[in-house]
Amino acid sequence: MSQMLLMLLATLPIECLVRAQVPLMSSNENQFKDSWQYSLDQQNLLKHLGGMGPYVESSGFGLPVNPPPNGLTVDRAFVLARHGERFPTVSLGDALNTTYTKLKKANAELAQPDKGPLKFVSNWKYLTEDPANYENLTWTGRFNGFTETYKMGQLIAEQYSHLYDPKQVLPVFAADKKRVYESAVSFANGFLNTNDYYSLPDSDLAVVVPISESKDSGADTLTTGKSCKPYHKQSNYRPNKRYNPTFLHVEAARLNKVSPGYDITSEDVENLCALCAFELNTFGHSEVCQALSQETLVGFEYIRDTLLYYTKANHPFTFILGSVYVNATLSLFESDKVPYNGQKIWVSFSHDTDLLYYLNSIGVLDYQLEDGDLSIDKIDFHRFFKTSELIPMGARIIVERLSDASDNKWVRVIVNGNVMPLKNCQDGVG
Ligand SMILES: *[C@@H]1O[C@H](CO)[C@@H](O)[C@H](O)[C@H]1NC(C)=O
Ligand SMILES: *[C@@H]1O[C@H](CO)[C@@H](O)[C@H](O)[C@H]1NC(C)=O
Ligand SMILES: *[C@@H]1O[C@H](CO)[C@@H](O)[C@H](O)[C@H]1NC(C)=O
Repeated sequence: MSQMLLMLLATLPIECLVRAQVPLMSSNENQFKDSWQYSLDQQNLLKHLGGMGPYVESSGFGLPVNPPPNGLTVDRAFVLARHGERFPTVSLGDALNTTYTKLKKANAELAQPDKGPLKFVSNWKYLTEDPANYENLTWTGRFNGFTETYKMGQLIAEQYSHLYDPKQVLPVFAADKKRVYESAVSFANGFLNTNDYYSLPDSDLAVVVPISESKDSGADTLTTGKSCKPYHKQSNYRPNKRYNPTFLHVEAARLNKVSPGYDITSEDVENLCALCAFELNTFGHSEVCQALSQETLVGFEYIRDTLLYYTKANHPFTFILGSVYVNATLSLFESDKVPYNGQKIWVSFSHDTDLLYYLNSIGVLDYQLEDGDLSIDKIDFHRFFKTSELIPMGARIIVERLSDASDNKWVRVIVNGNVMPLKNCQDGVG
């Protein structure tokens, strides 16, 4: 485990990701032991990007994924994944571009543009020149959406090779938005190790099945929210709420002091936080992340967490929206006549909101729901509900069926690489 961490740190530009002082570690054994005593996870910037940033594993609870507990074997698996790293949506992209354009203009007029943390603005390039790229997967930089979903395919193939019979066609289902469909294509390629992210793999081995996101599809879709009218009138049922941030103007004042002349507002600070996440998705590094204080990003994370919690995770309709997939999982797991041509692994790609519905319905969110709603007046630091843990770009929820030699069955949930025990269902082995 620590060795893995070391390898990871050795391959990442830690100056970009881990902004607090990280003790340098060597392979010297004594120093290696010292490293056990540092808590690095909390300093990982990817843990604070509010679901807008690159994939990062969940923190987990120390329960190993491999081998499964008590000599059990995984005999079926259901994977529900979010698309890979993408550009911002059109509306957010336009807002981010407004802040970008404003800062560039100010920079050009400054007598001393190289002062303080915003000095990078002189050479700053926007995420993309072409607004047609908005909403789509990114394809450059270490965290790009194509590579990430390809890697996901490789990891799933490695973990569940015994569930896949190459003589059969692996179907990968995808909501039909371009970024979701392309993620499924890249995943299928990774699963088959084709070394190609973009082309459809050999149809004898895998097919990608687009599923309409249109509301006309009713519940026969991976995006059940679209056709649920009352859900869209959500403010009739529950007001949209989000954390009321007081820290944004503090950060704006700090930046205006150390890098004078840009007239940074609270709104700009919020846009810079999002730019930090999307620059990592697009370029794999970000000077914007470096310029912001860690406290600001932690506050930004909470804005995102509260926003998504109230609109997508604990809205009165999310349980029912997610129960469509939970029921589907259940019927795939319950039939013992080896249905569907003997298929034992199912993979679907959709959006963060749909993953949140599923997490609600399957009981993962009970830790938060039974603990009470998130405060919007102050940051609830002890919350369970963290979007960066649950739905980063490329998020993946896996539900496994496990069985023993006497054919007893259990179910295990794995969220973003780690076992996620359910609050109200812990009576299985291990
Ligand atoms: C950003 O805004 C500038 C100024 O309005 C515009 O020229 C440019 O095309 C915009 N970029 C994108 C990607 O929309
Ligand atoms: C991004 O997606 C849109 C919508 O599917 C598409 O029209 C556009 O061509 C895409 N851009 C690129 C660069 O693929
Ligand atoms: C899921 O199954 C339960 C139990 O059979 C049923 O009560 C519920 O209506 C189903 N939900 C959906 C959305 O079909």
